[in-house]
Amino acid sequence: METKKTSPEQSGPPQVVAVSCSPRAGGNSDHACRLFLDGAEAAGCRTRLVLLRHYDVHHCVSCQRCEHDPSKACFLEKEDQSGELFRMLLQSPVLFFASPVYFYHVPSHFKTFIDRCQCFWMRHQSGDRAMLDLPERKAYLAMAGARPRGEKLFEGSILTLKCFLRPFNFVLQEPLLFYGMDGPQELRENEDARNSLHAMGREACLSLLSAPAADTAAAAQG
Ligand SMILES: Cc1cc2nc3c(=O)[nH]c(=O)nc-3n(C[C@H](O)[C@H](O)[C@H](O)COP(=O)(O)O)c2cc1C
Repeated sequence: METKKTSPEQSGPPQVVAVSCSPRAGGNSDHACRLFLDGAEAAGCRTRLVLLRHYDVHHCVSCQRCEHDPSKACFLEKEDQSGELFRMLLQSPVLFFASPVYFYHVPSHFKTFIDRCQCFWMRHQSGDRAMLDLPERKAYLAMAGARPRGEKLFEGSILTLKCFLRPFNFVLQEPLLFYGMDGPQELRENEDARNSLHAMGREACLSLLSAPAADTAAAAQG
């Protein structure tokens, strides 16, 4: 599956971005993104697929340099590809994340990216207007795990995602949580899962199309 890139400045309908957070190519998270984007596209939005595993993202080393930097920037942004992902968080009018459960949490590469957003948490905490003025936006989530049941299976990941998205003013919508999915094709072969993801993508797009234009314009400026 190729990463489809469209610049946020491009005019036309708003862009719905889906981020596949699995290291496994062609697995359930990739399929979840495709289904979500198909739903969004059918409802009239432009779409972009981001495969997180294609991005080189270094670990946060807790150096606290972002805390003391005048612009609260992370110095590692110059050394890897995190900058493009940060812009995605600042500028996208809506985001969808699809991720597997790894040991009751998200895979390490995804968590590494989340940890690197500490500099935005700092900016938000220090009252940086650029963060506080970000428009409220919706974030969508689908997760898959192999276990057939377990009420705590997704709990840790959801808590982390809410916390990570808060400084960007993304509000996590009711997630789709898929149990008993292990093989890479299992989500795609499940009709209920396919329909739910398609419907979620459609809902995300329709919600954007009905939002006041000013909101999406502000998000596009970042
Ligand atoms: C390293 C690793 C850890 C995993 N940990 C869990 C787990 O704690 N609970 C669970 O239900 N499934 C676990 N799984 C199974 C995956 O969540 C499952 O195969 C998922 O469907 C993979 O999604 P993907 O195809 O998008 O990568 C784990 C798989 C791997 C490779």
